[in-house]
Amino acid sequence: MRSYGKEKKLRPPYVFMACCFFFVITGVSFFNLFSQGIFSEIPIRRTVNKKTESLDHEETGDSSDSNIPFQVLSWQPRTFYFPNFATKQQCEAIINMAKHNLKPSQLAARIGETAETIQNHRTSTGVYIRADDDKSGILAAIEEKIAIATRVPRDYYEPFNILRYRLGQKYDPHHDAFNPADYGPLRSQRLASFLLYLSTVEEGGETMFPFESWRNMEGNYDYKKCVGLTIKPRQGDAIFFYNLLPNGTIDPISLHGSCPVIKGEKWVATKWIRDQSFEDYEDKIVKLQSHLLVKQ
Ligand SMILES: *[C@@H]1O[C@H](CO)[C@@H](O)[C@H](O)[C@H]1NC(C)=O
Repeated sequence: MRSYGKEKKLRPPYVFMACCFFFVITGVSFFNLFSQGIFSEIPIRRTVNKKTESLDHEETGDSSDSNIPFQVLSWQPRTFYFPNFATKQQCEAIINMAKHNLKPSQLAARIGETAETIQNHRTSTGVYIRADDDKSGILAAIEEKIAIATRVPRDYYEPFNILRYRLGQKYDPHHDAFNPADYGPLRSQRLASFLLYLSTVEEGGETMFPFESWRNMEGNYDYKKCVGLTIKPRQGDAIFFYNLLPNGTIDPISLHGSCPVIKGEKWVATKWIRDQSFEDYEDKIVKLQSHLLVKQ
């Protein structure tokens, strides 16, 4: 009797627990059925953006910020577009750190050229800033994201070149890579270029690749015209393109320039990416530019 009494006393919690167990099991089963789309007429759509669809990054992989959307823009030149690569706040902070130190943009002089003969090709003003000299860490964060996106390590990078183009200012079409025939022997080459637009330009200021798909190459096109593949600068967007072909020679189609600004102001952060580590040496070109390197 005593044991019966005890049993009776314990029964309600057992029943309650059994009910809970039943509800949990049923709930989980129904949830699974729903999530597998059994009760749904429309098949579940799979997208690459879903976390569950990401590939495993394995041991040598990288779990950081690895979903960076991009669009392949063209094959000739090898160009990629990264929408919203940087935030508005980042872009504005970079403009602020650069705007008090701008100097007329320099060009690497070809053998026999003087400052005067090259002055009119590039009318922007700019400043070089090393990511290490930016105490806010914004440039380092951008550089790290460029490294994540391009898979070229940061020690291959030149310092940021922050440029401003005002009304009518432009940069005539040129190659970022240096032809040794023009510049003399070099220890490294500019493999690729990454341009981050820091401002949205109301009109004009496009980055142009006039030779896109071997067009305009007869030599008689008006190089002052905005032709070929053109990219409109929008704050936070970036483009990335290769200056060299896979065999290491300069890609003639990588010729590009900046169309004149018609309305507004263009700010761009340029990151030149070398084919060798850039930290350990200064070659001829770097020496030409080094007087522009400023400490923040
Ligand atoms: C490099 O590749 C380009 C394009 O395929 C070719 O035209 C050029 O002759 C090559 N140069 C060398 C040195 O192999």
